[in-house]
Amino acid sequence: MFRVRQQANRLLPNILRIHRSLHTEIAFAFDIDGVLLRSKEPISGASEALKLCHDNKIPFILLTNGGGTSENQRTAFLSDALRVPLSPSQIIQSHTPFKTLVPEYKKVLAVGSPTVREVAEMYGFEKVVHPMDIVRYDPSIAPFSGVSKDVRMELSREIPGLDKEPFEAILVFNDSRDWGADIQIILDLLNSENGMLNTVRQARPNAPPMSKPSVPIYFSNNDLVWANQYVLNRVGQGAFRTVIETLYSRLNYGAQLENTIIGKPTAVTYDFAHHILIKWREKLASGSKNEIPLPKLGVSPESSPFSKVFMVGDNPASDIIGAHNYGWSTCLVRSGVYRDGDPLPCHPTIIADNVFDAVKRAIG
Ligand code: G3P
Ligand code: MG
Repeated sequence: MFRVRQQANRLLPNILRIHRSLHTEIAFAFDIDGVLLRSKEPISGASEALKLCHDNKIPFILLTNGGGTSENQRTAFLSDALRVPLSPSQIIQSHTPFKTLVPEYKKVLAVGSPTVREVAEMYGFEKVVHPMDIVRYDPSIAPFSGVSKDVRMELSREIPGLDKEPFEAILVFNDSRDWGADIQIILDLLNSENGMLNTVRQARPNAPPMSKPSVPIYFSNNDLVWANQYVLNRVGQGAFRTVIETLYSRLNYGAQLENTIIGKPTAVTYDFAHHILIKWREKLASGSKNEIPLPKLGVSPESSPFSKVFMVGDNPASDIIGAHNYGWSTCLVRSGVYRDGDPLPCHPTIIADNVFDAVKRAIG
């Protein structure tokens, strides 16, 4: 840990050491997969980059399209792996903005890894159902589920009155672990009679194709691909959404599924992140221990104290275009999805080998 700090400080420009306060006008948003980590392994320079910001009180947040664990658990893991103190307030996962939906929906289908049940409950949703609970209730609903009966019995729950109350929303928290079963169950609810399990809505004769599903559906990210430790990029939640949309359309005479997508590159998520970054800067300056209040979804900050915010990301279609369209500066790194020569949707401010290189050049 000490060695990392020494290395970071040695490379720190003099101006920054002397005029630290000036640099609260700049801030960073760091992507995680492909920038700080590949799977669970730290990427070269990640620890040094965060330490450089931390030691010099440069406000930063982690802005990821990943998820599946609580913000507390994720920051504890990252803090340990990257050897830098982090606060749960500094992390925005793809599904963090779902917290704002708690007052709107009581009974939700939480799609993704089995861990998302706990995350949804922690956010405050009153009745959380995972697709595995539905397969447990009646395995013939998804006859080709890829989850064995033993695993299902261990990870699912018996939900009293599962088919007696309507589902109010479908929230896709992270990547589906059982595409076949999840696709079937999502389509069932989208086409149900007012969100009731085991029902199907009837199309009215001569009515236009039904774009509005019976239950609203929210996707927490739209990444077609992402980078893990494998040599090639892997398909992500954006691919899953494409399958749902295509099948919904085929089952509904060409109707385009109405849905809500958050996460990078959407402005909704950048607004959310910007609010947090502003509050985090205030917290750093005041030393306050108060929690950062939850921003409202879809509301831009009225003003910003930052002259520049740098988004450091590896995915041009997510991190870079999202930040560019939002008016932030962009640092595209070569440690993840992007390879030299790939087409770019816009011109990044900086292209760097890794995150440490990007931060040094940004504050240069
Ligand atoms: O889409 C998958 C997700 O893991 C990507 O995460 O950190 O690169 O936004 P991140
Ligand atoms: Mg990434």
